[in-house]
Amino acid sequence: MAVNNALDRHIALVGFMGAGKTTMAAALSARLGRPVFDVDKEIEARYRDTIPQIFEAHGEDRFRRVEAYAIGAAVERRHPSILDLGGGAVTFRDTHDGLAHAFTVLLDVDVTTAWERARGSDRPLAQNEDDFRRLFDERQPIYQEVADAVVESGDVDGVILAAAGIHHELGALERLGELVPGDGPVALVADSTVMGIHGPRAQEALGARLVSTHDLPPGEEAKQLWVVERLWSELTLDRGGTVVALGGGSVTDTAGFAAATYLRGIPWVAVPTTLVGQVDAGIGGKTAIDIPHGKNLVGAFHWPARVVIDETLLETLPDRERRQGLAELVKTRLLAGSELDVRGAAAYKAALCLRDPHDHGVRQWLNLGHTFAHALEAAAGFDLPHGDAVALGLVAALRLSGRDPSVLDELDPRPVAVDRDRAWAALLRDKKRTGDAINLVLLGDDGPKVEARPAHVVRAALDTLIA
Ligand SMILES: NC(=O)c1ccc[n+]([C@@H]2O[C@H](COP(=O)([O-])OP(=O)(O)OC[C@H]3O[C@@H](n4cnc5c(N)ncnc54)[C@H](O)[C@@H]3O)[C@@H](O)[C@H]2O)c1
Ligand SMILES: [Zn+2]
Repeated sequence: MAVNNALDRHIALVGFMGAGKTTMAAALSARLGRPVFDVDKEIEARYRDTIPQIFEAHGEDRFRRVEAYAIGAAVERRHPSILDLGGGAVTFRDTHDGLAHAFTVLLDVDVTTAWERARGSDRPLAQNEDDFRRLFDERQPIYQEVADAVVESGDVDGVILAAAGIHHELGALERLGELVPGDGPVALVADSTVMGIHGPRAQEALGARLVSTHDLPPGEEAKQLWVVERLWSELTLDRGGTVVALGGGSVTDTAGFAAATYLRGIPWVAVPTTLVGQVDAGIGGKTAIDIPHGKNLVGAFHWPARVVIDETLLETLPDRERRQGLAELVKTRLLAGSELDVRGAAAYKAALCLRDPHDHGVRQWLNLGHTFAHALEAAAGFDLPHGDAVALGLVAALRLSGRDPSVLDELDPRPVAVDRDRAWAALLRDKKRTGDAINLVLLGDDGPKVEARPAHVVRAALDTLIA
């Protein structure tokens, strides 16, 4: 266990025959927009022969050498890809070492399932059940040793979460000490409300690693320069230390930014305690504070070393805050085109962020409804909760996508009383325009897309959101 995530790194899939590596590789390729490098296929193409034939003609030892060479070449490739490794590849030392810089995921499968899937194939090592089972037992410790993460066979979201460094588990807070990578000192940052409710358990879980605790003002008040300055001066960590941010998006944005800048950047761990945090703010490495000119205008991309999602932390969340998160969850469901839970929504965002960490492309899909939401928030002098504004923004985005906005009924979006001209002016300020058209994230038949709509159409859609 050395590599924390697959940002800018290959994802190497290992596991026994029948673990579903090839199916998984294809699914990950589609979700992450990365090419698959299938080592067996590569070797077959080079030798113009099938693996069983190569095995037969040259023996296993020789085959492993060829395999290690092919994997070495794959790992050297610059663009992060999905490496689909043969089941026996990691038994060879050279391969093992070659994987040191990839994020290696063990697809876990039980031996009976694996045998059911592999029997009757022409795979040389799947001809006899007893041999198969013996080999399975022999390989397990080797897989465990190379794996940066272990995921159930078939769990695509599980691999994506792991690849993003996200750990989702009920009650995970109790294991925070083990979940913070490394064994160095930890500074715990939380807003005063969350510190009061969940701080003691977090402190206990961190044990002897905890060297300091830091209380921030609750809510958006935390996202100010003086708060970050105070953190900079209070922190006693060296570069081997880790900042743990326990709280909603306001805390993770602020503490993450402090971690990004302190000593030119030290690792941090997000432990989101709001629904917004668990499906959105805690994921993807964007950190920021506000300045008088506007929200989130100063910040940094600083991917957390780990994100710990413990849904039991939401039990103490006030309804009003839960509603804010529900809007982002519904937004994510619309983008994905399926009924996602918290884990699924976290994985959806994680995939877009891994694909586009610096927000030049598909990550912008996450702004569905937000052009309208930001305009309404600005016109309301930021006296409108973000989730309520997003709910309204989604109404407009659905209408412009030719969809029925009644799917948003659970959010109960209600038009707000703000000045129409002020809202329109804010929208124009916020948006890049191409001539008289405005670019928006909309939903197409094949999923989300960015498309231009004439200004008067956009203005009419905005007007329907205003009472
Ligand atoms: N970085 C990103 O990608 C990103 C994405 C979305 C939002 N954000 C930012 O997130 C911020 C909003 O964060 P938020 O909505 O998570 O809320 P928040 O952090 O502002 O917290 C809201 C309130 O809930 C309380 N609270 C939090 N967890 C609680 C719990 N478990 N039990 C009881 N009370 C709890 C807090 O004390 C606070 O009073 C905004 O500043 C926004 O810009 C960032
Ligand atoms: Zn939002």
